[in-house]
Amino acid sequence: MLFSRSSFFSFILPLFLVTLLSIARVDVVSTAPTKIGQGYSLISVEESPDGGIVGLLQVKQKNNVYGPDIPYLQLYVKHETENRLRVHITDAQKERWEVPYDLIPREKPAALKKAIAWSRKNQNSVLMASSEYESNELIFAFTTDPFSFAVKRKSDGQTLFNSSSDESDPYSPLVFKDQYLEISTKLPQDASLYGLGENTQPHGIKLYPGDPYTLFTTDVAAINLNTDLYGSHPVYMDLRNVNREAFAHAVLLLNSNGMDVFYAGTSLTYKVIGGVLDFYFFSGPTPLDVVDQYTSFIGRPAPMPYWAFGKFFKKKKKKTSESRVLQNCSPVHCSESIVQSAKSIITPDL
Ligand SMILES: *[C@@H]1O[C@H](CO)[C@@H](O)[C@H](O)[C@H]1NC(C)=O
Repeated sequence: MLFSRSSFFSFILPLFLVTLLSIARVDVVSTAPTKIGQGYSLISVEESPDGGIVGLLQVKQKNNVYGPDIPYLQLYVKHETENRLRVHITDAQKERWEVPYDLIPREKPAALKKAIAWSRKNQNSVLMASSEYESNELIFAFTTDPFSFAVKRKSDGQTLFNSSSDESDPYSPLVFKDQYLEISTKLPQDASLYGLGENTQPHGIKLYPGDPYTLFTTDVAAINLNTDLYGSHPVYMDLRNVNREAFAHAVLLLNSNGMDVFYAGTSLTYKVIGGVLDFYFFSGPTPLDVVDQYTSFIGRPAPMPYWAFGKFFKKKKKKTSESRVLQNCSPVHCSESIVQSAKSIITPDL
């Protein structure tokens, strides 16, 4: 009797606690604000000496949700190549953590004060009476109050990214706190999105509205679904059918902090817990072009010799495919292919 009662409690009590906790959790989620603040306004924008543009953003209405707002932000935009546009937003007064510049080599954003001084001297400040800044294929367009930006493609007239938030939208305009950054884009309903690695999803690499995409690098087994994995690639490719023609582009948010990305079908929202907003737009227009443009920026994978796959593939497995390959080929052929592969390691551009 005593025995069965205690086992009853040992079963029921945790169940009760779990239920209680999940109710409490739902409560916390439902009371959290869905919209934070009024965004920023763009109070100055000028051409920078390197051919980009720099702007100063000021917060519209301060609040303390997830910490105080950063009052002034620096905006830097540049068409870095014919098919790559960069949009960089950070604290205008203090340096913040970024993916190190020697790890992924790229230009430093133009310094705001220097650019303004240069622009005043060269009388370029009038330039920004217009609200578009374009290259051959991509156009950066912006609104000043509240500040929002859009990236448009010239050849098909599509808006690839649009950060404006209307009254009716369920997400905030730009939010920039020390430990909470939020920005969203509208998307057409029929866009197909792929990516946001590394994350396991039941549907594979195509993004599904409502699926959880958390990027927070942890070393967990990929057998678990809906989970974050070993590395982080906050990049997605967007494939659209425009008048029966396929157009692809990609959006990278170069930020190494933990983030949630919410894809809701007609919008996508980033919620990031630190760093800066450093966006790169790759214009494609084919998926292969996108991959080419992306890897020319972040670096191409080194070619691996076939015999080494087993060795580097899985750090925890003892039996390598190297040993299997060696078992399965004739000595002459093997020694040739190993020499070839060894050459390809030593010569990095092969
Ligand atoms: C961005 O969205 C806003 C609000 O829906 C819209 O008025 C504006 O035209 C869009 N911008 C572009 C470039 O598509």
